[in-house]
Amino acid sequence: MPAVDKLNNLYRQAEKAVDKAVDKEQIEQIRVKYLGRKGEITSILRGLSDLDPKERPAVGKLANELKNKLEAAINDKLKSLKAKPPAIEALDVSLPGKKPNYGKKHLVTQIIDEAIQIFLGLGYRVAEGPEVETDFYNFTALNTPEDHPARSLQDTFYIRGLTDPDREGEPVLLRTHTSPVQIRVMEKQKPPIYILAPGKAYRRDVADPSHVPMFHQIEGLAIDKKITFGDLRGTLEIFVKELFGEDRAIRMRPHYFPFTEPSAEVDVSCGLCKGSGCRLCSGTGWLEILGCGMVDPNVLKYGGIDSDMYTGFAFGMGVERVAVLKYGLDDIRMLYDNDQRFLEQF
Ligand code: PHE
Repeated sequence: MPAVDKLNNLYRQAEKAVDKAVDKEQIEQIRVKYLGRKGEITSILRGLSDLDPKERPAVGKLANELKNKLEAAINDKLKSLKAKPPAIEALDVSLPGKKPNYGKKHLVTQIIDEAIQIFLGLGYRVAEGPEVETDFYNFTALNTPEDHPARSLQDTFYIRGLTDPDREGEPVLLRTHTSPVQIRVMEKQKPPIYILAPGKAYRRDVADPSHVPMFHQIEGLAIDKKITFGDLRGTLEIFVKELFGEDRAIRMRPHYFPFTEPSAEVDVSCGLCKGSGCRLCSGTGWLEILGCGMVDPNVLKYGGIDSDMYTGFAFGMGVERVAVLKYGLDDIRMLYDNDQRFLEQF
């Protein structure tokens, strides 16, 4: 093989070896093998005098070039090995770890859980009912007149093509409140009844800062002998103070619901201005949080309960509304935008 080809081959081998080397010792072995006193490139330079004089200058020049190139490659490699300390030294066990991203309960779920805890403490149990309801449970059994506006197509999501299997021709719908659970519980359970029924409700509202078409309510129902309006007020007062804080007061305003008589709306004193009037409470000092009243005797009858022996109270609270009021949210829709930066705050 001509000396020039031999040199080029040697250099290619040496270059590959340098590339693969992982420590100083391996590099040193390569240096000795090619550039040492008895190294392969060194030997070719030493043996120049044995070559044909015509070949000599070209071989000598190439050998010197490759020798310099290899020395440079070796130096670069040594530098890069020094710059990268072995992996074991790079592990600093005293550094703080990366925090895993734990999920958490949605604010609406947190408020429902909190309400459940408060009422479990008062001796209540949790009850549930279907979200797809019949006209009977959602309206009729709750003493709602046939021509009541809540029954209209504008306000209620009716399920087209489905009718109540138990009541010929009557519609099926998405419940517009959690109150039908009252009837379902009464049908199954004899008094005393003390239940809390949290769940979803649906109304044909266009979403805006204070409305979403799917929302949550917490329904309460107490039926026993000699339940009075005073019991209702006392229960709600305890609940509101536990949920919003000891310093909050409630007031009741007369209202109308088909299923309670008398009925009231309940306001909680504004936590932002402490009652003096501000933007949150539109200057009134009070925030409306729920509807309630004494269960109408007609409703007890629909539920199969003797209205001469028993009385009861009921209430229904909007969970999203409580979230808005408790945290002064500007827009109820933020609860359903699924922006983690917002939800993580609670
Ligand atoms: N169901 C009523 C509503 O959705 C609230 C309510 C419940 C009122 C129970 C009185 C008694 O507005």
